[in-house]
Amino acid sequence: MITGTPGVGKTAVSQFLASKLKAIHIDLTKLVKQEKLTSGVDKTRKTLIADMKKVSERVQDIIKSYEQDIIIDGHYSMNVLPAKNVYLAFVLRRDPEELKKTMETREFKNRKLWENLAAEILDVCLWDAVRACGADKMCEINVTSKTIEGVVEEIVAVLEEKRKCRVGIVDWLGKLEKDGRLNEFLKDF
Ligand SMILES: Nc1ncnc2c1ncn2[C@@H]1O[C@H](COP(=O)(O)OP(=O)(O)OP(=O)(O)O)[C@@H](O)[C@H]1O
Ligand SMILES: [Mg+2]
Repeated sequence: MITGTPGVGKTAVSQFLASKLKAIHIDLTKLVKQEKLTSGVDKTRKTLIADMKKVSERVQDIIKSYEQDIIIDGHYSMNVLPAKNVYLAFVLRRDPEELKKTMETREFKNRKLWENLAAEILDVCLWDAVRACGADKMCEINVTSKTIEGVVEEIVAVLEEKRKCRVGIVDWLGKLEKDGRLNEFLKDF
């Protein structure tokens, strides 16, 4: 599993990792859109709401049809499979300042921008994944200022047991507070 806040680089990293490992890459955002696995529209956020039951069933079907390793990419990836079927869950973390720039390039604005930045600052994806899979399967990777190739190398090192999985490697809240920039980032949206 590859999870993390929108814009951290899940899809870019998963694509590269899949080509390196000759694994199958399942991009949940793409799958949901292509196969219309939705249950409605979130009008406030102007996005489609994924139907988790349909997504989960479809992902389990796809997995059964392949022999290869599977990389599931999406910020709710840990909710589409039972924890026992998850080998490892990587949470990509990106410094909020850098992430804000990526989000702005992707035209995230107002509520969508601040809500997603708050999620990164408050470790939302990390805790969702820990709750679903347990801390033992979690690997946090700080992708800040790293190339996609560099991030993939770190993931491969973990898979080859040359590097230990760790959780609790970043503290965006503490960093922003120390820099006196917390109010600037945790806006009332
Ligand atoms: N390490 C990196 N260095 C430079 N650019 C990157 C890096 N990782 C991702 N990018 C770029 O940042 C943008 C967002 O990346 P990507 O689409 O992979 O994010 P994501 O986590 O899959 O987002 P979403 O949750 O919206 O699907 C893309 O334009 C991608 O090419
Ligand atoms: Mg993506």
